Amino acid sequence: MCGIVGYVGRENAREIIIDGLKRLEYRGYDSAGIAVVQNGKILLRKHVGGIANLENLIGDDPMTSGTGIGHTRWATHGAPSDLNAHPHLNGDGTIAVVHNGIIENYVELKEMLVRDHGVVFRSETDTEVIAHLIGVHYNGDLENAVYEAVSEMRGAYAISVIAAAEPEKIVAVRKDAPLIAGLGQGCNFIASDIPALLKYVKEIYLIENNEMVVLTPDSVKIYDENRQEVHRDVFHVTWDADAAEKEGYDHFMLKEIYEQPKGLYETLTRRLNEDGTIKLDGISMTKEEIEGFTKIYIVACGTAYHAGLVGKYIIEKLAKVPVEVDVASEFRYRDPFVDDKTLFIAISQSGETLDTLAALREAKRKGARVLSVVNVVGSSVARESDDVFYTWAGPEIAVASTKAYTTQLMCMYLIGLHMGYVRGTINREYYDQFIADLMTIPDKLKDCLAKNAGIIEGLSKMLYNKEQVFFIGRGLDSSVSYEGSLKLKEISYINSFAIAAGELKHGTIALMEPGTLVVTLATQDFLYEKMLSNIQEVKARGAHVLSIAKEGNTAIEAHSNEVIYIPACRDEITPLLSVVPLQLFAYYVAKERGCNIDKPKNLAKSVTVE
Ligand code: M6R
Repeated sequence: MCGIVGYVGRENAREIIIDGLKRLEYRGYDSAGIAVVQNGKILLRKHVGGIANLENLIGDDPMTSGTGIGHTRWATHGAPSDLNAHPHLNGDGTIAVVHNGIIENYVELKEMLVRDHGVVFRSETDTEVIAHLIGVHYNGDLENAVYEAVSEMRGAYAISVIAAAEPEKIVAVRKDAPLIAGLGQGCNFIASDIPALLKYVKEIYLIENNEMVVLTPDSVKIYDENRQEVHRDVFHVTWDADAAEKEGYDHFMLKEIYEQPKGLYETLTRRLNEDGTIKLDGISMTKEEIEGFTKIYIVACGTAYHAGLVGKYIIEKLAKVPVEVDVASEFRYRDPFVDDKTLFIAISQSGETLDTLAALREAKRKGARVLSVVNVVGSSVARESDDVFYTWAGPEIAVASTKAYTTQLMCMYLIGLHMGYVRGTINREYYDQFIADLMTIPDKLKDCLAKNAGIIEGLSKMLYNKEQVFFIGRGLDSSVSYEGSLKLKEISYINSFAIAAGELKHGTIALMEPGTLVVTLATQDFLYEKMLSNIQEVKARGAHVLSIAKEGNTAIEAHSNEVIYIPACRDEITPLLSVVPLQLFAYYVAKERGCNIDKPKNLAKSVTVE
């Protein structure tokens, strides 16, 4: 996804910007570019492909200025190309703009610029409209020109702008796309994401919607949409750049799989009071509100949506409230039944997924109470929610989500337990025992990783060349199947498909052939016998069966080609363990197939377009 980095100071802006862009590479992009103000002119270099291409293009160019902006682009309007790459310039090349997001009315603005100002466009992007728009309003005052331009724009954007005539200034604006300002000594920074700046600064301003930030080497000023200066508290980033490195693992994904015991421990224990009850920091929902909810929506995308599927099961069981789970891109367009007795739970690792954010706003508009489960502190979803349950996964770099998922699950358990206890649908003894069982999970997960990683790596070498894979399970296992299937397809490009095991016979079983790989999850004691029947159905049609079961439940071996065992635990919390062999399987299969594991094709870490 697109990334922005800008620098104004006394060092070489080009070096700092390129370094920052590299730190955003994990977000996925298709082209990169940079513009600096030098000797009263804007120097522009941009290239399709990786940042290495851009560096080659720059070569020994004397880009020595202390003011510049850079960008990594993920195409929305117009194919990846040198011309469509950012930055974009106005007609006479005196204004340069980088932009994340989408300008919804760019067609009408483009027509107006051509008709009224004779503008000639060079690219197919919506962003070029912004450069020309600022250009036609510019009369020596960049802030004013940007204000005028954004007042005519509709859509979601974070933009950063430089002008040839104002060599020590960057002006940036945010609306529905992330933007931060980094505070240096004799220099300042702008960026779309914190990791871009971690090497240089730990103190930042989080820019809010509709705010403009004006940076010079010695000042950072924030203004609201009425051009009034606003005060912003400094946000101290507590994690360092090392946390975003691979620490000896071959890939970020593997590192993040192994970080799950820690993430789960942190997510759980940071929410526990000394007496073992759930701590409600950041949650202002009252007892009366919790008792009054008649319906809950859990809304999210991708892996976060799969965490919601488990959440539904758990919250309905513990708190006895009907829960509906929806993909965010559908929720807002179907006029859902939301009122002031509705709790809307948004789940998002990045907190910047536009579909989730839009659904959240729709739910709020209809009167729902909004609780979010978010990993990135200070992200848009977190800021726009009434209450926030943070996951303590730490930065997740690999596009394929792993530790965010398991920590999101942990939050689902905590939310379900808290609501159930407040609503009187579970008693204290049950509540205490459940939390005690959750406390055993980090160690069980370490054990599960230690016992299974080598076995799964070996199996992957044997099974990596399957053309299609099915994942089946019942109850909670069915929810985890969806996640296992998504993991495999997104990083190995194998056509994989998840389906509730009982539903298989209603159509999909037609696809079973000798050798078809079926991954079966059978961790629910009360559904174990039923699963064995479903496994026999596919086995009878020649499927190769790889099963996941709890230690001790060995009857499954008679029906499976291979069995991976997870540590025994209560049925409700097996998803915290059973997903891990599936993550490892996806990882090792993708590795065996030579795929780009941390940055799979066509995908981005943070999806900030609809
Ligand atoms: O940042 P979010 O949790 O809102 O992201 C949601 C999805 O885009 C994300 O989970 C995606 O499905 C991952 N690639 C899955 O591994």
